[in-house]
Amino acid sequence: MRIGVLASGRGSNLEALLAAEAEGRLRATVAIVLSDRQGAPALERAREHRVPAIVIDPKSARARLSVEVESQFRDRLLEQEVDWVVLAGFFRIVGEPLLSAFPDHILNIHPSLLPSFPGLHAQRQALEHGARVAGCTVHLVNAAVDDGAILGQSAVPVLENDDEAALAARILTEEHRLLVETVDRIARMGFRREGRRISWNPEVLS
Ligand code: GRF
Repeated sequence: MRIGVLASGRGSNLEALLAAEAEGRLRATVAIVLSDRQGAPALERAREHRVPAIVIDPKSARARLSVEVESQFRDRLLEQEVDWVVLAGFFRIVGEPLLSAFPDHILNIHPSLLPSFPGLHAQRQALEHGARVAGCTVHLVNAAVDDGAILGQSAVPVLENDDEAALAARILTEEHRLLVETVDRIARMGFRREGRRISWNPEVLS
């Protein structure tokens, strides 16, 4: 299974995938990394693992990509013959060009237990709400933000003296584990989706 990763920043989730692949813990290949940001540390992480890393600069601060720019992302992914697209800290909203090229084959990692706390600053939202349990979600991407069918979740406690950084760090450790586990699971098993519900296909377990 070939995957293309879209990342805007630090790239620690990308690094988790690359490390797992290098160590033989991921039955998938990161074929290309695309970023909307020149100088994103994620690009350097890709190059260290000899994975092509390309910037497509939308030249606009708007969260939603224009059809033209998004089509450029799509074309690079199609050129690399990727099967799956992973949004790993990609701070843009994707739409029709990518969704129709990769139907039910785009996933996102979000640092909350969705449907609680979608959008920006999910960890801060959880703290301000007084949640006692937080976590992360890997989900399919659809046209709405942080909304698609859930592929996997992992919970962590919120401790009484947590600040945003402490909670984010606890969640991030789980993100890395959950993202690798979910991508590997897709490669091993595949799944069926009925509405919002996902069932894994153990019969194709290899
Ligand atoms: C992660 O918390 C991810 O859940 C969110 O953005 C952050 C990206 O971190 N979507 P990194 O770039 O993978 O280190």
